Amino acid sequence: MKRVAGGGRNMTVIGLALIGLTFALFSGCALFEDEKTAKGRKLYNHYCSHCHGESGQQGEGFNWERMPDPRPKNLASNAEMSTFSDEEIFHTVYRDMMDTSDQKVLDDENYFAVPTMPTFKYTLSEEEIWAIVGYVRTLHGMSLTYDLEGRRKELEGALQAAQAEMEQAQAVFDAAEAKAAAAQAAKEESMTEAQLENYEPEEVTLPEEEVFTAAAEKYEKAKSEFENFSKRPKKAQVSRPDLSIAEEDRTKQVKLGEQLYSEKYGCNGCHSLNDEGGLVGPALDRAGFRLNPTWIYRWILYPQAMKKHTRMPNLGISEQDARALTYYLGTLQAPKPENPIPPPE
Ligand code: HEC
Ligand code: HEC
Repeated sequence: MKRVAGGGRNMTVIGLALIGLTFALFSGCALFEDEKTAKGRKLYNHYCSHCHGESGQQGEGFNWERMPDPRPKNLASNAEMSTFSDEEIFHTVYRDMMDTSDQKVLDDENYFAVPTMPTFKYTLSEEEIWAIVGYVRTLHGMSLTYDLEGRRKELEGALQAAQAEMEQAQAVFDAAEAKAAAAQAAKEESMTEAQLENYEPEEVTLPEEEVFTAAAEKYEKAKSEFENFSKRPKKAQVSRPDLSIAEEDRTKQVKLGEQLYSEKYGCNGCHSLNDEGGLVGPALDRAGFRLNPTWIYRWILYPQAMKKHTRMPNLGISEQDARALTYYLGTLQAPKPENPIPPPE
């Protein structure tokens, strides 16, 4: 009797487990959705909420008051945000930074008016940015309709096509090279010993080589685009720069650096000078005293190499621009803050 009763209990346990499993399987899709939204929320809170607010409301993020105009739209407003397509929202987060001191950039109506919305193209994977866009959609009561799997397939297809094209170009190049070598051998064969003595074959560049090089570059690009779909972009360690410069060039570089600071990379959206500008990163008034130029150069080119989850994005800065910015930051040598003024008696 005892044993039967025990068996019954076990059966019940197994039965419950089965029901649980079936439920988990059927609700698998919903669970997956939630996971994506949760991932988007986590990334949004870490990389966006200081400027946009946790709920997307204007004035909510701690950096809101400190950003220069024009400030961001209300991400929680359906009326404002429903006019954007999913791709347009993605683009605002992904696009390259452009120099707004250039009139052509200002005239381009597809471009933002201000550079203080940083790019995340060089910091996060495409999939992560889409997770954020999906989360932003929930802030104004919508959901992502973009075909993410279609995008993955598109990138995969482009990679396969580029690989086939490169292999084809390689075969054509190999054949052309073999043919040229055979012609050269035949020519040397027909020469006399004396002629060969002073003979220097001339360098030939085959047009097939150029075609192959172009195809190989296209393949590398397609490969990194496919990889960046699911993986964060990685770049090689920044090597130690030689920052020595003639004094007359330095003045020019400092001026350029100052311009890049606020008109291209929106550093002022996150850092303050003389108590003006953002509060996301430390004030930079004394950067020229506190920080070593080599360190600054490497940090601004690739912050994630030094601190993996820093809120400062990799802004896709060129080595040239990083130099100018480094020289500029070196000039920021404000005196130590004075003792706070004592309260009135
Ligand atoms: C340093 C502050 C800052 C951070 C960090 C930031 N943004 Fe922005 N964002 C802005 C500003 C400023 C604008 C307005 C740009 C404009 O109108 O030209 C903006 C614009 C936008 C827009 C377009 C709507 C509009 O106002 O034109 C979207 C969408 C957006 N940001 C999403 C994000 C997301 C998602 C993140 C995080 C991955 C993020 N932002 C991080 C400052 C920031
Ligand atoms: C989205 C906000 C954001 C933007 C844009 C940004 N930074 Fe930063 N920055 C930070 C944060 C946050 C830190 C602190 C790093 C940490 O500890 O994670 C930082 C750190 C730094 C530091 C080190 C400061 C110190 O005292 O240790 C320098 C230098 C710096 N940033 C320069 C720049 C420059 C130059 C630009 C523009 C090219 C820039 N930052 C753009 C957020 C930002």
